[in-house]
Amino acid sequence: MTLFPGVALITGAASGIGRATSISFALEGCRQIAISDINLNGLHETAKYMKEVSSEIDILVQQVDMQEEVQIEYMVQAAMKRFGRVDYAVNCAGVGGTRERSTDLTAKQFDFVTNINYRGVWLSSRAELAQMLKQEPLPTHDGRPGSRGAIVNIASQLGIVSTYSAPAYCAAKAAVISMTRSDAIDYSKENIRINCVCPGIIDTPMTQGDSGFTKALETSIAIAPMNRRGTPQEVADACLFLCSSKASFVQGHAMVVDGGYIIN
Ligand SMILES: NC(=O)c1ccc[n+]([C@@H]2O[C@H](COP(=O)([O-])OP(=O)(O)OC[C@H]3O[C@@H](n4cnc5c(N)ncnc54)[C@H](O)[C@@H]3O)[C@@H](O)[C@H]2O)c1
Repeated sequence: MTLFPGVALITGAASGIGRATSISFALEGCRQIAISDINLNGLHETAKYMKEVSSEIDILVQQVDMQEEVQIEYMVQAAMKRFGRVDYAVNCAGVGGTRERSTDLTAKQFDFVTNINYRGVWLSSRAELAQMLKQEPLPTHDGRPGSRGAIVNIASQLGIVSTYSAPAYCAAKAAVISMTRSDAIDYSKENIRINCVCPGIIDTPMTQGDSGFTKALETSIAIAPMNRRGTPQEVADACLFLCSSKASFVQGHAMVVDGGYIIN
């Protein structure tokens, strides 16, 4: 029996952690999966990989800009229309932004990072919660009581500790952790679980190439006791655990997947 008999929805699924999470749901037996991103070509590529690991899968591909409330609402409604429910939602879409101190950062740059990394996650989790409130729990893998739904918001180790020249990014990620806890308190009585995952330096396009972050990334990797980048799969595994009924008593948690960075 699969741990994922329900419907999954993943944002930011065209690349990196979102792609690895989408493929993992397919691999672990989830049969109905909605994926979204602003990058449609990347989404189709993700769907192709998902079909390679699962022949019986039904995938809903949607191009969505996480800055747009109407598009986000439509994304969840379309998943409901196609599959009838949303059980596991992983809100992965995010941007790194530019590397500036506050006095060199424009309000436009600040809004861009905040609107995708924080407001966009709030909008998508709000839309997912609204649907989960209307549905009954599915059976669980061992007969324990299940939840009406499980949401995982992707934050960052930089929501817990900080770094130089990234005020908007760090603040948005801290906000995601805080919002996750607040929602977890509010929706526990309705039997919905909301957690977040805080990745360290993960080997995705966000941390590759010659970005303004390169030097800071190398420093962070050197600080982390495990002294390497994580893989998108290692973050996806944490997301799937938190979505599964094996995490039935995990609520409002910020699970750090960072090779020990924040403990050092
Ligand atoms: N890679 C890391 O080291 C790391 C560390 C901590 C947290 N994170 C977080 O993990 C999440 C995934 O990042 P990743 O590393 O996989 O990066 P990535 O760049 O590979 O993936 C991010 C995805 O988000 C999508 N996206 C960006 N803006 C969007 C928008 N407006 N609307 C819809 N989709 C949009 C991109 O198209 C892309 O597919 C992000 O929230 C990021 O902040 C990453």
